[in-house]
Amino acid sequence: MTSATQPLGTPNNLEAFWMPFTANRSFKQNPRMIARAEGMFYYTPEGKPVMDGTAGLWCCNAGHARKPIIQAIQAQAEELDFAPSFQFGHPKVFAAAARIASLAPGDLDHVFFAGSGSEAADTALKIALAYWNVTGKGSKTRLIGRERGYHGVGFGGISVGGMVNNRKFFGSLLAGTDHLPHTYDREKQAFSKGEPDYGAHFADDLDRIVALHDGSTIAAVIVEPMAGSTGGLPAPKGYLKRLRELCDKHGILLIFDEVITGFGRLGYAFAAERYGVIPDMITFAKGVTSGTVPMGGVIVRKHIYDAFMNGPDNAIELFHGYTYSGHPLAAAACLATLDVYREEGLFERAREMEPAWADALMTLKGEPNVVDIRQVGIVGAIDLAPRADGVGKRAFEAMDRLFREEGLMVRTAADTIAFSPPLIITESQIGELVDKLRRGIRAVAA
Ligand SMILES: Cc1ncc(COP(=O)(O)O)c(C=O)c1O
Repeated sequence: MTSATQPLGTPNNLEAFWMPFTANRSFKQNPRMIARAEGMFYYTPEGKPVMDGTAGLWCCNAGHARKPIIQAIQAQAEELDFAPSFQFGHPKVFAAAARIASLAPGDLDHVFFAGSGSEAADTALKIALAYWNVTGKGSKTRLIGRERGYHGVGFGGISVGGMVNNRKFFGSLLAGTDHLPHTYDREKQAFSKGEPDYGAHFADDLDRIVALHDGSTIAAVIVEPMAGSTGGLPAPKGYLKRLRELCDKHGILLIFDEVITGFGRLGYAFAAERYGVIPDMITFAKGVTSGTVPMGGVIVRKHIYDAFMNGPDNAIELFHGYTYSGHPLAAAACLATLDVYREEGLFERAREMEPAWADALMTLKGEPNVVDIRQVGIVGAIDLAPRADGVGKRAFEAMDRLFREEGLMVRTAADTIAFSPPLIITESQIGELVDKLRRGIRAVAA
């Protein structure tokens, strides 16, 4: 395609950009291009609306182009474009930390900033290791994740993560990790609304892991309260409580990776609140700025922060941080985003909307090839039976058709279609989204 035939705003040459987690050749032959966004919708370069069924990448919880957030970012860029967070500070990052801490349950009251969810996950794992060092238990070095878990793409995150393709190309990863079993059993859980009744016992596998390695070698367990990237697996009822009890029993830190579940996705500021379980650390990113400026971080309990506050006053307590930890634009975006969430009651709105969302999704039961539908908070996932000629082909075709023909953005993982729209979605838009999905699923029936 020459530049003369391309709509305004379309890059002339798609080749240079090596796209992440993308089938590059297929995309570049027939791109799915997005030029603009507002509220619940994206717009293609030709101006065609595409309903945002995924809040971007699970991040734009307040919807797109929200004026107060845009204005805060613009004003911040003019006032203070960058300031280091190493040995210096700027007021908004302290305010952002205090606001985030005030939303977290229990004594989760100190915030370490990073630039993304991957950095947040690796930061939490490093804090866990360092915590045991500074408290005189340096033999506790093992990190336990879970099959089908996703904690970003850093070496720490992929080592405790459990998504095979994210691990198998990257060598020996971190030494000293182990994995709990995932919590999904289709036979016993299919078409559950919310948390499935079956599966709390999957947490008990931690006893087996401890019996193998001994608690004195284990630093932390990290899990997502709802496994998002693997296809939306809600925690079974009672599972997270059981995991907390077992971590307490064996003296192991528990980390909730709330990069997706934080900031309203499950109807609360954090899923920890929904489940009445207080982990030792919570990782966050995405919704903290409604996706507008990259930001991630870790909230830690008081005893963890306090354990580091020893030694001479001029000594650095934790040798860790990123150039962009607490970037001024991110801090300003965070404060404005949290204002929008509060003023519009978006977390409560998500909670109130959940039954209607669940009912609407379950109407897709019985459509061709639908073998399971899962839902929790404002998250949905539909498993399609794979085609005989390859795993993932049916869902990929559905995603592509939904974008081009129905004007709906969804995500896929193998043959799962996942969606997590902005929390501003209305009941009539839920109906519209489900109608589009129904047509998309029927279109790939063959
Ligand atoms: C639970 C979880 N942790 C970590 C990450 C990584 O975040 P990022 O892509 O910002 O590095 C993600 C991203 O989807 C996630 O879902």
